[in-house]
Amino acid sequence: MADLSVAPLNKIKAEIHVPGDKSISHRAVMIGSLANGRSIVRGFLASADCLATIACLKKLGAEIDLAGTKVEIKGSGLRGIKQTRELLDVGNSGTSIRLLSGILAGQPFLSKITGDESIQNRPMMRIVAPLREMGANIIGHSSKGNVYAPLEIHGGGLKPIAYELPVASAQVKSAVLFAGLYADGETTVIERNQARDHTERMLLHFNAAVKLQGLRTKVRGNKDFEGAEVDVPGDISSAAFFIIAALLVPNSELLIKNVGVNPTRTGIVDVLHRMGAKLEVINEQLLAEEPRADILVKTSKLKAIRIDGQIIPRIIDEIPAIAVAATQAEGRTEIVGARELRVKESDRIAAIAATLNRMGADVKELEDGLVIQGPTPLNAAEMDSYGDHRIAMSAAVAALIAEGETRIANTDCIETSFPGFNQLLNGLR
Ligand code: S3P
Repeated sequence: MADLSVAPLNKIKAEIHVPGDKSISHRAVMIGSLANGRSIVRGFLASADCLATIACLKKLGAEIDLAGTKVEIKGSGLRGIKQTRELLDVGNSGTSIRLLSGILAGQPFLSKITGDESIQNRPMMRIVAPLREMGANIIGHSSKGNVYAPLEIHGGGLKPIAYELPVASAQVKSAVLFAGLYADGETTVIERNQARDHTERMLLHFNAAVKLQGLRTKVRGNKDFEGAEVDVPGDISSAAFFIIAALLVPNSELLIKNVGVNPTRTGIVDVLHRMGAKLEVINEQLLAEEPRADILVKTSKLKAIRIDGQIIPRIIDEIPAIAVAATQAEGRTEIVGARELRVKESDRIAAIAATLNRMGADVKELEDGLVIQGPTPLNAAEMDSYGDHRIAMSAAVAALIAEGETRIANTDCIETSFPGFNQLLNGLR
């Protein structure tokens, strides 16, 4: 298991690129595999999570070639997916297991899908319930009960449903929409609070039979679509760590090029503006239905704010990094309504509080959030990643402004979303 040592930095002056968006990369190869004919994906995130998606799709008969960050897919249509006797293993990737389960629910054969220990403890009822309602037969083979991975899915013969999401989750929404591609009629997903909409946009880009009507998305089943070209923008969730670093490290000016700025993902920009950050989003353009832009950040004096309500799904993956910023903001930052953080790759509420407190911050756990009193100086410490990439990278960013050298153990998990994180961080020196 790799360790990471991080010493403080006294300034950042750089122009960087971050790797491709994880959510968009998963969807590009999944939808490309269900299309007819050739698709090309550029800027693909070749991280452990997205490679797990490719490996599962290949076992299901998809023809996929990856060279660097370019993927070529020869799709054989919605009915081109073939049965495999092999176990489908998603590793640590929640997006892979939940989205692929939606596709498997549409297949008239039996599949088995699972992942690592973290995946086997994450809630699957949220996808199992609507997929069962559509007619799929799903059984979980866990000692924890029949809605935890490993999942056995016998799909096919699906009927369309109108499903109101009980949690704001793009993974659940996407699982239902993917199953809807195989249902006999029109499937509708209704959201109360919008989660990231990359599946909808990618289906539109591939000219699939999808309709977007505000908080309602409709998909018509059994309608084939053709392959397409996709340019994946940089991942704003990865950029988040460098944005926070540049805000906190003195005398900094950082330009991050070509970052995805889909409005369902840019809550971090809104939050940081409210906190007083000097942050500009420039040169915006739209490609493959996904907006992207450059982000310019300068060292800023931050003030505490309250973060709650509709914005939570738009910052859900960035809360660990935002919490680091809050330790340096003047006043009491409150983050509430974020209970979902407890069921991510780790219990992120507990992991953030323990990590930052160990470095001298003043962080209190709420059942559904965090209260952070700032500013507090941070000191170096011996840390652990909790097996969670976003906790490891947040600790590394905090270490940039801590007194002394921080060691973070068990950082292999960073590979799940951000290969090259360490090199990019060291390149700032
Ligand atoms: C993702 C959705 C979010 C997010 C995850 C990626 C996706 O999860 O936290 O990192 O690509 O659909 P939920 O749908 O569980 O909120």
